[in-house]
Amino acid sequence: MTDGVLADTAPAPTAATTDERWWRDAVIYQVYVRSFADGNGDGIGDLAGVRSRLHYLADLGVDAIWFNPWYLSPLADGGYDVADYRAIDPAFGSLEEAERLIAEARDLGIRTIVDIVPNHVSDQHAWFQAALASPPGSPERARFWFHPGRGDDGDEMPNNWVSNFSGPAWTRTRNADGTPGEWYLHLFSPEQPDLNWSHPEVRAEHEAVLSFWFDRGVAGVRIDSAALLVKDPSLPEIPAESLPGQHPNTDRDELHDIYRSWRAVADSYPGTRILVGEIWLPDAERFAKYLRPDELHTAFNFDFLVRPWDAASLKTSIDATLAAHAPVGAPATWVLSNHDVTRPVTRYGQEDSAFAFATKREGTPTDLDLGRRRARAAALLCAALPGSVYIYQGEELGLEEVQDLPPDRRQDPMYLRSGGTDPGRDGCRVPLPWAGTGSPFGFSPAGSTGEPWLPQPSHWGELTVEAEQQDPDSMLSLYRTMLAIRRGEPGLGDGELRWLPSADQVLAFARGLRFICVVNLSGAPIALPADCSLLLASTELAGGLLPPDTTAWLLSERPTTHDRTLRGPTEGGE
Ligand code: GLC
Ligand code: CA
Repeated sequence: MTDGVLADTAPAPTAATTDERWWRDAVIYQVYVRSFADGNGDGIGDLAGVRSRLHYLADLGVDAIWFNPWYLSPLADGGYDVADYRAIDPAFGSLEEAERLIAEARDLGIRTIVDIVPNHVSDQHAWFQAALASPPGSPERARFWFHPGRGDDGDEMPNNWVSNFSGPAWTRTRNADGTPGEWYLHLFSPEQPDLNWSHPEVRAEHEAVLSFWFDRGVAGVRIDSAALLVKDPSLPEIPAESLPGQHPNTDRDELHDIYRSWRAVADSYPGTRILVGEIWLPDAERFAKYLRPDELHTAFNFDFLVRPWDAASLKTSIDATLAAHAPVGAPATWVLSNHDVTRPVTRYGQEDSAFAFATKREGTPTDLDLGRRRARAAALLCAALPGSVYIYQGEELGLEEVQDLPPDRRQDPMYLRSGGTDPGRDGCRVPLPWAGTGSPFGFSPAGSTGEPWLPQPSHWGELTVEAEQQDPDSMLSLYRTMLAIRRGEPGLGDGELRWLPSADQVLAFARGLRFICVVNLSGAPIALPADCSLLLASTELAGGLLPPDTTAWLLSERPTTHDRTLRGPTEGGE
């Protein structure tokens, strides 16, 4: 063993923007604009803030930025209620500024991915306003799901569907004369009416929106709630169980035709413009169907994200993921967090480290030091797996979920509509700490009068970009080194993975000719394979051994492909 990390951590020059296969192993950084950086001091993140921090992202070594929705929106669901796709919300900036941002990022070798929310629009969108102002049966209403109620007075909902944000998925409207009218469907909040995807104008409009953003130079779109768009037109009750493709509002076969047309739009542009699906589906085969060569390029791998910190469980997920992707030729994605889920530092610091929306509770005992240590190990694991990697802002700083936000500051409809029984997602959306020792921690410029829209924990002075940049052992230093090595190491990124034999609670695999990754999820230190040098470890080695909850990246002296005697760590562990 050669102990020590690589001395040179400066990122290598960025990949040429002409590389057509860039997306197969890209590192994509997710920017939640509201909480990234505030340029004008009103306490709300904005495009000026992002522009002023682009060098930070270039130094970190990311290939692309995915922006959560930045369009005109009443922000009833953090921007997932879009009032106009062709305008930037004035709280964030202007269209011209977005164009400048896209160009500036491109100059730094960073591509831009925008978020498209096709399942629904804001209730303030011109189409929905026109529908409300028009009578039942009108063409304006046909773009949505308006329906008479059941019962003699029509005061019962058309069916029993439940909103993803608690409560009924239907809201009753009022007629022009003030009498109760039809109901409309919303799988999320009432401010997010669902579109009717069997309507040709709905399809045409979204293809035009894709072109609008591709024309402005974006390299891809993230598709929100991508498996929910199509509904069974008879709007049946949700059965206890349904055959694949038979669920009334999820994963219906007609979706594939929609995404084939989207792919044709994307493919009509130079360079590879990618389509990334937000698809939560337990069935790996159904999931992979969306990734056929003429549909989406990739989709988020939530199966891996929800797994507990357990070697067998993670290995099962990795194998299932790679097996499902192989037949369609699509690369896998590895995602530890996003703006919807509990931050990994908190998840992995809890006894039950699996994630499920339904069981999300605040006040669960959490060991943040343990969680951080495991999150470091998980980051190295993800970055070593075949495919592309997502990093949600703040993950690289090791931020934890903020669990004690004052109730009157919370804004997430998941919290508000559940009457507070669901803690919601504000805790992973707290504005980033950039510098200094007190709020706003450089999130807003010095002397700003606006407070950050969600309060930051007072101890985040230890977790600022400024503090972590100066600390070689920080999470940020680990991410920077990790991404620099990943970019230079030919075995990493797209390609194959070969498992090496290893003890229980240890994952060991080889990539390319000489790269090896070992993750110790056991409670005891383990020996590393012989004749390897250490590239990077998520926690310092102790006496040449890999401590618990630690990942090591190694280079084998001999090609691993031909060395039949090569073994992973088979001793130790628990
Ligand atoms: C997706 C988004 C989430 C949003 C929902 C409704 O799941 O990631 O933030 O609330 O869709 O648009
Ligand atoms: Ca602002």
